[in-house]
Amino acid sequence: MDAVVAEKLTKEYNGKVAVRGIYFRVHYRECFGFLGPNGAGKTTTVNMIYCLSPVTSGKLTVLGMDVRKHPREIKSRLGVVPQENNLDPDLKVLQNLLVYANYFRIPPATARSRALELLEFFDLADRAGEKVDRLSGGMKRRLTIARALINNPELVILDEPTTGLDPQARHLVWQRLRRLKERGVTLLLTTHYLEEASQLCDRLVIMDRGEILEEGKPGELVARHIGQEVVEVGLEQMEEAATALVVERTGHLLREHLEVGDNLFLFPREKGQAVLQALQDLPLRFSHLLLRPATLEDVFLKLTGRGLQA
Ligand SMILES: Nc1ncnc2c1ncn2[C@@H]1O[C@H](COP(=O)(O)OP(=O)(O)O)[C@@H](O)[C@H]1O
Ligand SMILES: [Mg+2]
Repeated sequence: MDAVVAEKLTKEYNGKVAVRGIYFRVHYRECFGFLGPNGAGKTTTVNMIYCLSPVTSGKLTVLGMDVRKHPREIKSRLGVVPQENNLDPDLKVLQNLLVYANYFRIPPATARSRALELLEFFDLADRAGEKVDRLSGGMKRRLTIARALINNPELVILDEPTTGLDPQARHLVWQRLRRLKERGVTLLLTTHYLEEASQLCDRLVIMDRGEILEEGKPGELVARHIGQEVVEVGLEQMEEAATALVVERTGHLLREHLEVGDNLFLFPREKGQAVLQALQDLPLRFSHLLLRPATLEDVFLKLTGRGLQA
């Protein structure tokens, strides 16, 4: 059995399709990701999983239960971190957790000890008595995640857990999410950060315009579509002739190339160094020339012709 099973899952808003007949499975104890740009349908999908938004058609089973038949039971066993923080700004940090615990009818003594433990876990213990609006963005996000754990959920859904945070705050959140996973909590997250997806997810789907384009382990997806390395080429004049020359001279070393805007992306069959060498012998001036490891961004680029931030 899986934590979430979606079959031909579809969501329409007034006849406009936001999620188009998607299939996916989230296994217990894994971290599963939805990677995609704005408007891909990530939030719409997770809103259906946590029974906030009704399914238009298709099948959706969460923790073994049909979302149409058992929304209350499902909600009681999930933790949810929505895309926008919805903490109560008038309450203090600890009170936010206690009020939330009350929705789940957790006895006050249990709620209090669990809340204090969670504040400790998320480095917020010394802020327990502070008003929420005094917290930094990273602290608010950590508090929202702590709140999602108050009912000891089997599955935690995080919609863009670190969007808008600075790198340091983001790394702290990642570290805590990894520890949660080690404790056996199933995590389902959405993100448009390729680094977040590759750092945290055991498996992920790449989503765009309401559809799932690919599914797999981050490293496998990169290896399958791109390879080990990428050579990025910017030509001073992106003329057809110059581009053609680059492709002609390096083609035998490449598994594929892509032209996106002002950039040419070369995907070497083997060592990128050999491609660089071949380029240096050409009578062309490059505005930039970069050899770097292949990433999920390259996979997205190849699948859609666009970047993830677009
Ligand atoms: N409440 C809504 N009413 C109408 N359209 C919506 C609503 N929520 C989302 N959409 C549309 O559905 C599509 C997917 O949006 P969303 O699920 O928010 O994507 P993501 O979370 O990947 O950015 C977008 O085209 C968006 O405009
Ligand atoms: Mg969203």
